Amino acid sequence: MTENAERFLLDPHLDFIRSEGIPIVEDFGIDLLAVEVAHWPRLEAAGAYTLLKGRGDFIDAYVLELAPGRATAPQRHLYEEVLYVLEGHGSTSVELPGGARRSFEWGPKSLFALPLNARYRHFNASGRAAARLAGVTSLPLVLKVFHDLDFVFQNPWDFAQRFGSDRFFAGEGDFIPVRPGRHMWETNFVPDLASFELRPWESRGAGGSNIMFVLADGTMHAHVSEMPVGTYKKAHRHGADFHIFPVTGHGYSLLWYEGDPDFTRVDWRHGTVYAPPDMMFHQHFNTSPHPARYLAVAFGGLRYPFTEDKRQTFLGMDVSLKAGGRQIEYADQDPRIHQMYLDEARRHGFEPRMERFIGEPVR
Ligand SMILES: [Fe+2]
Repeated sequence: MTENAERFLLDPHLDFIRSEGIPIVEDFGIDLLAVEVAHWPRLEAAGAYTLLKGRGDFIDAYVLELAPGRATAPQRHLYEEVLYVLEGHGSTSVELPGGARRSFEWGPKSLFALPLNARYRHFNASGRAAARLAGVTSLPLVLKVFHDLDFVFQNPWDFAQRFGSDRFFAGEGDFIPVRPGRHMWETNFVPDLASFELRPWESRGAGGSNIMFVLADGTMHAHVSEMPVGTYKKAHRHGADFHIFPVTGHGYSLLWYEGDPDFTRVDWRHGTVYAPPDMMFHQHFNTSPHPARYLAVAFGGLRYPFTEDKRQTFLGMDVSLKAGGRQIEYADQDPRIHQMYLDEARRHGFEPRMERFIGEPVR
């Protein structure tokens, strides 16, 4: 067989990450705080790729661990990247076109994006504790399109419009009002997702709230949603790739395909990541004594949806299936769903507060 005869069904992204020398974990959901990392030569740090079954075609995810007092090797690349800090404290330095630098200090539950192809380094500010960050990137998309590592990692183009205002590196931003569920916050860095002000979004259910982020004017999407104590959201479905990172509280999600006799259940808390697969219904339930908040990261955002599926998701994620949208209203949901939540409430010892949303007595 000639060499060319073996060149079919290639995946330049998988080939590349296999060559990086760090563990590759693939699962439906992953505990990012427990994932084993190994030395990552390219970053001069430690890491593991954490590929979710529901990651879709365009994005991947990884864990980066930075030892006390250490810094990553300088990087720049032609794919976008959004980072969420799982634990530890440090800073990131980003080089602007022209060579000036902007630095910002992050801690647990910080969110930030690296402007496209900007040169950057991460620093662990602690002399004692490791820092662990989760990254979601569009490396699969970019490598599948170009399959040329030098073009992707050694490209001199500056993309000057991606850096935004200096305020965006200082944790400030611009609120862009649209309508409930579509209000946006444009920035490069959010210091603390746990305390960030969210906006009411009644149509997704049960007193919930959210904010959509535009980060570094990128195509990558991020949003944060919150469920009050004793509540759960309405089910909906959309294309693959929304990586869900719980931020506060704990709970569970039910997932099922239309016609499935049973639900798949994922229990979650800070450190977990999972991704609902393509067009699989999913519904999120708060079982904690605190509001439960989660971050979702995907490819194709409210400003730049990228695919028709994302456009339809942002239009119809809170619109009933019966009206052409993608959501199951409480009145139309499988009765087992509410009963399961009441059972969970008894087990966890919290008071369900769903009656005013679903019109059923709570026993
Ligand atoms: Fe969703």
